[in-house]
Amino acid sequence: MAIEVFAPAKINLTLHVTGQRADGYHLLDSLVVFADVGDRLTIDPAPRMRVDVSGPFSVGVPRDERNLVWRAAELAGVTTQISLEKNLPHGAGIGGGSSDAAAVLRALGAEAHALVLGSDVPVCLLDAPQRMRGIGENVVPVGGVPALHLVLVNPGVHVPTPDVFKRLKKKENPPMDAHLQWSDRAAFLAWLIEQRNDLQAPAASGNPAILAALKTLKGAELARMSGSGSTCFGVYPDAETVRDAAAEIAEKQPRWWVEAVTTVGA
Ligand code: C5P
Repeated sequence: MAIEVFAPAKINLTLHVTGQRADGYHLLDSLVVFADVGDRLTIDPAPRMRVDVSGPFSVGVPRDERNLVWRAAELAGVTTQISLEKNLPHGAGIGGGSSDAAAVLRALGAEAHALVLGSDVPVCLLDAPQRMRGIGENVVPVGGVPALHLVLVNPGVHVPTPDVFKRLKKKENPPMDAHLQWSDRAAFLAWLIEQRNDLQAPAASGNPAILAALKTLKGAELARMSGSGSTCFGVYPDAETVRDAAAEIAEKQPRWWVEAVTTVGA
């Protein structure tokens, strides 16, 4: 029996880098939420492993053991045929490959293997808002996060994550303001504006396209980069304003990936 699963876009509403371990990995403090856009997967038991890739972002996606979904199935101890519809840009700061891998682990009951597949995979096992700390292994659900209307903008540049971490000069930065309780959306937004993505400046310094993406979101209540980029998000008040903003940006920048999304609240 085929299992169909959805692998949502992951958005780091905040991403504070608070230190670096002896092995080079960075310590993070991040509020992560998930959107209603994502990749779609069908997982079928099969005599040997096979990965088929389709969809608008299928170009360049490996169909062998380099693909995290292949490795996820292997770790689950089964051979499967996986059809992967890539709707999300990859290497884009919104967790594409990690979310795909987490969806496979969940479908096959192999969640315990998440961290070996990457720092972002544990947080992608749930689609609820979570605070992610350590190098990504420490995840706890966060309540009181409103569903948000966001425009996601990817200007089509690929920014390798290790390069962005290398360009980050100061490794020890203050963590998130840990008072994670908000009376309403306005209080949440006021809090969010005060937080940071410490990777935004190092990513943008080598990539003017990221600054251009942030600039197109200047009408938003808040514009920030997700993950190590290059996708940026803008927060808008409601479904109508977000739709209008996305249409306007898409018209100005027809080559960019632009999506109006709603995040899952808690
Ligand atoms: O774990 P993942 O494969 O997503 O990490 C990609 C790269 O990003 C790592 O090889 C490392 O250079 C960097 N990274 C880091 N600290 C983290 C996560 C990733 O330095 N917490």
